[in-house]
Amino acid sequence: MSKTVVILGAQWGDEGKGKIVDLLTENAEVVVRFQGGNNAGHTLVVEGEKTILHLIPSGILRKDVVCLIGNGVVVSLEALQEEISLLNAKSISVEERLKVSFSCPLILPYHIEVDIAREERLGKKKIGTTGKGIGPAYEDKIGRRAIRIADLYQPPVLSEKLRSNLDYYNFLLVNYFKKSALDFPQIYEQLLEGGDRLKSMVGDTEQILFDAIGEGKNILLEGAQGSLLDIDHGTYPFVTSSNTTIGGCLSGTGLNAQNIGTVVGISKAYCTRVGEGPFPTELQDETGQRLAAAGHEFGSTTGRPRRCGWLDIVALRRACRLNGVTSLCLTKLDVLDGFEEVKICVDYKNNNSNNRLAFGQKHDTVATVPVYETLSGWTEKTSGVEEWELLPSNARLYLERIKELVEIPIDIVSTGAERSETIVRVNPYS
Ligand code: IMP
Repeated sequence: MSKTVVILGAQWGDEGKGKIVDLLTENAEVVVRFQGGNNAGHTLVVEGEKTILHLIPSGILRKDVVCLIGNGVVVSLEALQEEISLLNAKSISVEERLKVSFSCPLILPYHIEVDIAREERLGKKKIGTTGKGIGPAYEDKIGRRAIRIADLYQPPVLSEKLRSNLDYYNFLLVNYFKKSALDFPQIYEQLLEGGDRLKSMVGDTEQILFDAIGEGKNILLEGAQGSLLDIDHGTYPFVTSSNTTIGGCLSGTGLNAQNIGTVVGISKAYCTRVGEGPFPTELQDETGQRLAAAGHEFGSTTGRPRRCGWLDIVALRRACRLNGVTSLCLTKLDVLDGFEEVKICVDYKNNNSNNRLAFGQKHDTVATVPVYETLSGWTEKTSGVEEWELLPSNARLYLERIKELVEIPIDIVSTGAERSETIVRVNPYS
């Protein structure tokens, strides 16, 4: 019988979802991206070889796995083509295994221009976006004027939509942002060319998914970014423009609630955030720098340094509740190796006790002060450990305490970048 497993980030993104998706794809025949775009950066290391994917599902590294880009994803044709070429250069076949929904809205050059110009104008109040045009592309989708992949194959429709959108965006770029206008012919030609190249990979991903389920195949849904970056439930306005939580995987694919089996929440053993916005446990001291250095905490899409801090249980519990997480996966445990003590934020000092979730709603007026519980660290290495029993006892106590606080089992622990450097206590497909 088919089983659908959803992988979701339980923090602010960069939790290491790509590695876990790649690992679990051993048990899945179809892997699906359902939201976001090429703002994501999923780093995979297989036999020492590093691959960073932004748009194509992380299942692509396994032969025979079908990869789908669902209707909820905003697609940059240029970024997609670049990624296909990069994978082809590594002798990984893509064309025969990738299908992109004909309903995906496209990211166009004016979205990128507006994204960057807005950030410039916001100055110190900027969101810290990846500058990939994600927000403006989703605005067009909600505004019912998006150019979708299907439009690429109807030149008169494409031409009319592009003209009308360019009228609007050029007015905005020239008169409001004081930037140059963009040319219709160049963008139009690029879209036609891009459409031609993509044609064999465009399809009805919803139908493909239901057919696969009917045939008893296992499905893996790959979330991008993290729950606290969700447009509705995250630390608004410092969020991305899609639903990164469980609802996004239904609206972004056409699946229904009955199709969802296990929901795996991925969290680092500590916390990071890239871009602006509230981060209660952020450490702007030597400890934060030590976490950043040990964890190589630089954004895989923008190269920006990530902000680092201790694990935030209040935020993690919230993410688990939002998504109905049934199984937790803790990544990068090895980064904490050698710390004399490790801390966990178990509450917020100035929080309204009836509302443990208040941060994110009042972050602009009240700084959230974490309440920490301190545990003993471990001097032994967890790096590369593949069995729970071989973990240092203090590392196990740390994980046990997290499980107790979040009240969800920790079924997977990642101790390094390689596929093999993982402790799988319960496989979500079993
Ligand atoms: P946008 O998605 O480019 O609009 O950026 C909005 C916010 O989401 C910024 O704080 C970004 O740093 C953050 N963000 C977007 N994608 C990712 C990701 O894949 N990992 C971590 N943060 C992300």
